[in-house]
Amino acid sequence: MTTLAIIGGSGLSQLKELTIIKREQLNTPYGAPSAEFITGELNHQKIIFLARHGNPHTLAPHKINYRANIWGLKQLGVESIIAVAAVGGISTAMAPEHIAIPDQIIDYSHGRLHSYFDDKNHPVTHIDFTYPYHPNLRKALINAAANAQISISPIGTYGCTQGPRLETSAEIKRMQQDGCDLVGMTGMPEAALAKELGIDYAAIAVVANWAAGKGAGGISMAELEQHLQVGMVKVIKLLNAFIALP
Ligand code: HPA
Repeated sequence: MTTLAIIGGSGLSQLKELTIIKREQLNTPYGAPSAEFITGELNHQKIIFLARHGNPHTLAPHKINYRANIWGLKQLGVESIIAVAAVGGISTAMAPEHIAIPDQIIDYSHGRLHSYFDDKNHPVTHIDFTYPYHPNLRKALINAAANAQISISPIGTYGCTQGPRLETSAEIKRMQQDGCDLVGMTGMPEAALAKELGIDYAAIAVVANWAAGKGAGGISMAELEQHLQVGMVKVIKLLNAFIALP
């Protein structure tokens, strides 16, 4: 297997199942990454883990240095990234605690440093982003879910909002009309930056709540965290099954 990294989001600031080999604090031309890079073994496979929001969870989605995170992983020789992200569910199948392997993205975020190609030393480069998630990595995750008997949605469009506030119900209605199935705050520019550096990237989206206006009443943070905890147990099982693939 190629060198694999797991980026953990909300609900996954630590990968307790990891047997830690080393911790590295890297600096990059883009500043400091969210946290130290942890090299360890998961199910006998070497992986590198990074807590996207820091450990403890202190960085809001719009404050994350996505460029430093992805650059650091590249520096460590990472060739594939599995990004774990908490999301709100918009379409009917995306109930709390459900897992999806998204295949598309719509980016509603703004004001984030979202490219490596933005100064005179890095001439304008337009990457092909037709398929934002790597097809083979997605297929492997879908196969691993089948092997582990975890029910997932094998496709879905991830809408990335700016946060840190959650959305209004009108915003979610509009996102649904646009074709979004899931809403999160950290999928971009992370996916595009990985593509710019030639790293294969796929995501595991864990539904923490019904998106605004899709459930009964407002969104309870206590319920959101509870659903996330249950969802993360499935994510760990999925990651173990993914690593066990031949
Ligand atoms: N919206 C945006 N991001 C999220 C949500 C949501 O409802 N739930 C978890 N992350």
